Amino acid sequence: MRHIMVMNAKGGCGKSTLATNIASYFANEDAIVALADYDPQRSSLDWLERRPENRAEIHGVEGFRGGLRRVPRNADFVIIDAPARSHGTELTNLVKHAETIVVPVLPSTIDMQATTRFVDELKAVGKVERKQAKIAMVANRVRDNTLIFDDLDEYLTKMRVPYVAALREAQNYVRAYTRGLGIFELPEYLAWPDWEEWEPLTAWLRSVRSQP
Ligand SMILES: Nc1ncnc2c1ncn2[C@@H]1O[C@H](COP(=O)(O)OP(=O)(O)OP(=O)(O)O)[C@@H](O)[C@H]1O
Ligand SMILES: [Mg+2]
Repeated sequence: MRHIMVMNAKGGCGKSTLATNIASYFANEDAIVALADYDPQRSSLDWLERRPENRAEIHGVEGFRGGLRRVPRNADFVIIDAPARSHGTELTNLVKHAETIVVPVLPSTIDMQATTRFVDELKAVGKVERKQAKIAMVANRVRDNTLIFDDLDEYLTKMRVPYVAALREAQNYVRAYTRGLGIFELPEYLAWPDWEEWEPLTAWLRSVRSQP
């Protein structure tokens, strides 16, 4: 069973968006998928409630209440949506649940600064230090040809953590969330640019590079 956690102490950077899309990606690959929401705000579970019945099944788990106890035993993937503002002991405890950690970052100076501190704290967690959990960064809500994206791109390239994908700012994410879908479940004519951008992220998630 693989545990993939989406986390960043910074709020609003796309943790729930990435968690729901990663869950729907693997569910459409015929894997048994659980989506564990550790945020009492429940954004991932709210998304799951909107999900049409005829779509690939995803098992919702209230991580903020019972941890991972309710995850089906036969699950192939547990996708974990972590809450914002996780620091210290809470951060260390969350990391115990995952072997793979995806950190979304927005093209914004405030977000990059907060993320630097968060990633430093994350790297100092024993499990990450010992490489028993692998981290990657994802730029989110990117707009090409903006100076701040150039800054973010440079910032992520210099960071000593794999920088695996840059996802554009797109209404498709809002649209998909509203319908309980992932962008992989939107029509190709609308979502093909997003599918292309996700390819390096899903390739990393499938590869041994994302596993200890
Ligand atoms: N690539 C994107 N394009 C457009 N909108 C996006 C994108 N990624 C996220 N959003 C929007 O940004 C907002 C914040 O995203 P999301 O809720 O996923 O962040 P979060 O990190 O989970 O926030 P929180 O810290 O509150 O849990 C949402 O309204 C979401 O629809
Ligand atoms: Mg969230």
